[in-house]
This record gives sequence, C-alpha cells and structure tokens, in this order.
Amino acid sequence: MCGIIGAIHMKGNVAPLLRKSLKRLEYRGYDSSGIATAANGVIFIKKDKGKIDEIHQQINFDTLPGSIGIGHTRWATHGPPSKLNAHPHTDCYDRIAVVHNGIIENYQELRQILLEGGHQFRSQTDTEVIPHLIEDALNHTSRLENAVARVLPKLEGSYAIVVLEAKGNELVCARKESPLVIGLGQRGIYCASDVPAFLPMTRKTIVLEDNELVHLTANGALLTRLDENGSPTRLPLRIPTEVQWTIDMAQKGGYPHFMLKEIHEQPTAIRDTLRMKKSDFENFADVLHNHKKVITVAAGTSYHATLAAKYMFSQISNFLVHDVIASEGTDTVASSLGEDTAVLAVTQSGETVDTLHAVKHLKKQGSTVLAITNTVGSSITRMADHVVYTQAGPEIGVAATKTFATQLATLASLSTYLGVLTGAQTIKEKNELLAALNQFPELIEIIIRNQENAIKDASQEYITRSNFFFLGRGISTATALEGALKIKEIAYVHAEGYPAGESKHGPIALVEPGFPIVFVAPNDKTRRHLEGNVMEMKARGAQIISICSAQDTTLINLSDHAISLPPLPSILFSPICYVVPLQLLAYYAAILRGHNPDQPRNLAKAVTVL
Ligand code: G6P
Repeated sequence: MCGIIGAIHMKGNVAPLLRKSLKRLEYRGYDSSGIATAANGVIFIKKDKGKIDEIHQQINFDTLPGSIGIGHTRWATHGPPSKLNAHPHTDCYDRIAVVHNGIIENYQELRQILLEGGHQFRSQTDTEVIPHLIEDALNHTSRLENAVARVLPKLEGSYAIVVLEAKGNELVCARKESPLVIGLGQRGIYCASDVPAFLPMTRKTIVLEDNELVHLTANGALLTRLDENGSPTRLPLRIPTEVQWTIDMAQKGGYPHFMLKEIHEQPTAIRDTLRMKKSDFENFADVLHNHKKVITVAAGTSYHATLAAKYMFSQISNFLVHDVIASEGTDTVASSLGEDTAVLAVTQSGETVDTLHAVKHLKKQGSTVLAITNTVGSSITRMADHVVYTQAGPEIGVAATKTFATQLATLASLSTYLGVLTGAQTIKEKNELLAALNQFPELIEIIIRNQENAIKDASQEYITRSNFFFLGRGISTATALEGALKIKEIAYVHAEGYPAGESKHGPIALVEPGFPIVFVAPNDKTRRHLEGNVMEMKARGAQIISICSAQDTTLINLSDHAISLPPLPSILFSPICYVVPLQLLAYYAAILRGHNPDQPRNLAKAVTVL
C-alpha cells in the first residue's frame, strides 16, 4: 500500500501542495517519498528514503518548479526503502515520470524484455517497467493518453498510476484494483489514492473504477474505459460527489477507527498477498523440506499465526514443526538446534526484539532463517537467509488484524507447496487447495456484510462481563487464542483462550451460571468432540456463543448466541475466516466500554525491548 497524488495547479508552483498532500497520505506508507514536477519541458525530481518531513528538511521539496506534478509516499514491496527505489520512476531519458500503488506481478518478464530492448533500469522496483513501456509506446503515438492505454493491458496485477510527461501540460492516471480518486477544485485538479490528499483544496470527488483512465489538464478531466485489449471508449465524466468527511475521517476511509477499517481491508490484503511470486513459496518450502528440524518463532498475534501453521503443515503437508514463543526461544529449545535446523520467523513489523533476539541466537548456532514479514527493509530481513513479504500495507491500529490474515494466507499457501515436496499432496490437489484459498477474501466480505450487526448486538449483550473463555480444538485453538488476545488487548476484558478438550482439566472450575464461553467451531474433524465440551459447559450454566457453520443446526440450537458463517471451500484454512467475527467482537466490546481500540493502553505496535 502506497499513497499517490497528481496535481495541476492553476497558479504558482505545485510542489508545496504535493508535499502537504503526501503528508496527509502517510498513513498509507511512510518509508520513502518523492515528488516530480515538470517545467519548461524538463522533469525535476526530489526523492529519498524516510518520512516526508525528514526528507523535506534535507532537500526542500518546495523549490521544485512548475505547476504540474506527481508525488508518492511508499510502503515498500519490491526492493528495500532507498533513494533509488523511491518513486517517481522515470524512463531512460527522464521524459516520463510515474508514481504507482499496487503490485505488477509480471514485472520480471517485462523487465527482461525491456533490458533486451536496450532500456536501462535504476531501481529494484516492479514500478520502473511502466515508464519504460510508455517510452516505447510513445514511438507509436505522440499522445501520452494513447501511449498509457497501450501499456496497461501488458500489466498483470494491481495498479493505480499517475503519469507525468516532460511537456508538462497534462497528467494521465489509471487504475486496476488499487484505489484512485479524482478531485475537481476551483484552483486545481487532482488525482490521488485517497480523498485526504486533496481535501483542503476540494470536496468534489469522482471515484474511478477498474480499467478506467483519466486525462487531466488545466481545462478538466476526460474519462476513458479500456477493454481487455486496451481499446478505449470515451465516457461522459460522472457527476462529482461532495464528500463531507473531515481529514481524520477521510484517512480512516470513513470508518470511526483504523482498526475497523483494517478489519474491512482484510480481503484486499489477502488478495495482494496471494499475488506474491510462486517461486518465493517454492523456495521456502524447499528450505523447510531440506532441514531435519523446523521451528517457528514469533510473538503475540504472529505467534498465533505460527500455531495455526503447525496444524496446517501437519494436516496439509504431513510435516511436523515445533512452535516457539519468541521470548522463550533461546531458553527452551536453542541448545538442541543448529545447522540441521530451519527457523521460520513470523513478524509483521520485522522489529520485535524477542523475535530478533531468538533468531540471532539460532543463526549463530548455524540455523537457516526464513522470515515472513510485512515490512520491507526491517531488521528481520537483514538477518534472514530468505524472506517472503505479506502485503497488508501499513497497519495503524495497534491490535493486529489484517496482518494476521495475511500471515495466515501466506502460511496456508506455503503448506500446499510443502505438501507437494513431502508427497502429501499431488500437484492437482495443491492447485485445488490454492484455488480454495483464493476464495477466502470473498468469504470474508460476505461474513462482514452478513454478521457485523449481529456481532455488534452480541457485544452489547455481553458488555458487562469481566471474564470470557475462548475455546476451540485443533487449528481452532489458534483462532480461540487470537480471539481472547484481541478482547484483552483493546476491550480490557479478561479472557482466556484454551484448547476446548483441555478445558475440563482446570478452567472448567471457574464456570458458573452465566459465564460466557465463545466456541470456535468450524465443521472440521474436531467438531464432533467439541460438542462434548459445549455440553460440559452448558451443564454448568455457561452461556454459549458459537462461531460455527450456518449448516450446523445442532450447535446453533445448543447456543445462546450463534454467529454462523458460510461453508468454506477448504476447512483446513478455517482461521482465516473464523477469526473475523472475533476481531469484530473485540472491536465492538472496546467501543461499548468506551475505549479507543486504535491505541490500547500499555501496548505498542512494535515492542523493541526484551
Ligand atoms: C506487539 C503488538 C502485537 C503483535 C506483537 C508481535 O505486542 O502489539 O499486535 O502481534 O507485538 O509483533 P510482530 O511485529 O513481531 O508481528
């Protein structure tokens, strides 16, 4: 996730406006920033690694000349944060500058073709292929708009782009699966990833749809729809909508909190994550398969993802891993590990010191380190031998939600590749599992759409309770632990996550009439035995809240409150969907109890102390 902006100012230099716009988009990414403007037939660029204000102090963006320009604030996906990888990117002759948000999946093939054609690249980004492709297309047409239209059908993946030409009298922007909004002001015309970028200048917005391209000049905007082959059809410009949001509301996409926005962003985050290169997963699976011992290392929510992975690796790949809580890592198992060990570290920030400490120790003992992280350029990426990135974009809410979803999706995908190597899956079965996994984003959309209000009501009913159990069996133990952690973290309600089967060996002693127990109950192999645990708790007067299949009428009838989910295309990945109601339950419990879920007390997004 990155933030992009393009602006044509009627009077005066546009650079200060672009810089301030980028500042308002920083919640979309903040590891590097850049601005390009055009004046007198020349493109001027300033960009660097770091936050916009820090860079501005060093190089003063505001001195860039010209009334037309583009800007970018980056959340790295391809290539670590650096000056060269920062946007805008240009063609060989600096005639074209491009800012991009999204992922070009086929960039390596395109780059190879362009290199063979004599193009020279300066960055490691996927984006840089775009200005070079436009450079080539301009050999066939003199109009920038037509050149961009020729290039777009070649790009696989997702994009919102803004293109600036040295001539400096027009911008061309386009989108596919990444957001882009047009702003029509009295003193300027804008396009950006999101409304806050231009909100102080105008409230008149037009949201672009996939495969739409807009040609912007000082005289206005021309809208074009492209078909699959890039053939254009000019459309009348839609009537602008007048947004009523404040900047704060706009940054949260109209949601009251970042956490709720991020829960709703999970389908997109998973889709983007599953777009990552197949070869990365194959390589990871290969390394895991070639080691005698494999452990996972993680903290907090990431630990719960590794716990779910333990079950997925076992059931899908017939492969045993040992899950280690990072802070326990060096003290518990380290002495028995060495060169025969692969360590799979999972950390959204890549900066959790517990995880880094454990990894460093194990690396010293000769173990191979694989990392799954959301943050390109983070400390873990410098320690690891191999890295796979989740594509959640920046997560602002302290409680992890969309990053958890993307970790689960990555680990689920990995389990299928590993399954082929161990012989547990045929290629056909692996592909079927991956096809099932690709349906999960849509299911999350359905779950949120159908159940959010019911979950809100449930939280209302249980708001006064000060203790909860979250129980599940098998892989749902991981989901239950995550549900309990979420409600603890943001609603400050004491909750214990536990394996349901184990609950009779102690926790049940606490149960008395009215005690709320959330059962995570997908229709998998554990479902039959779970019913016994439900009955045990019911017999002691517990109130049963179940998260179960809509077809599970038995459990629905046994429950005081049932949140029912659609049937899943593969039950083996159930936490990806079953955690969503638990995130919403925690969110609404926090709100009803009067707490700000985005900034829970005593917690930090990345914990950098041991
Ligand atoms: C902190 C955060 C949690 C997170 C944990 C691990 O405790 O508050 O949300 O799950 O750190 O963070 P990591 O960045 O390593 O995934």
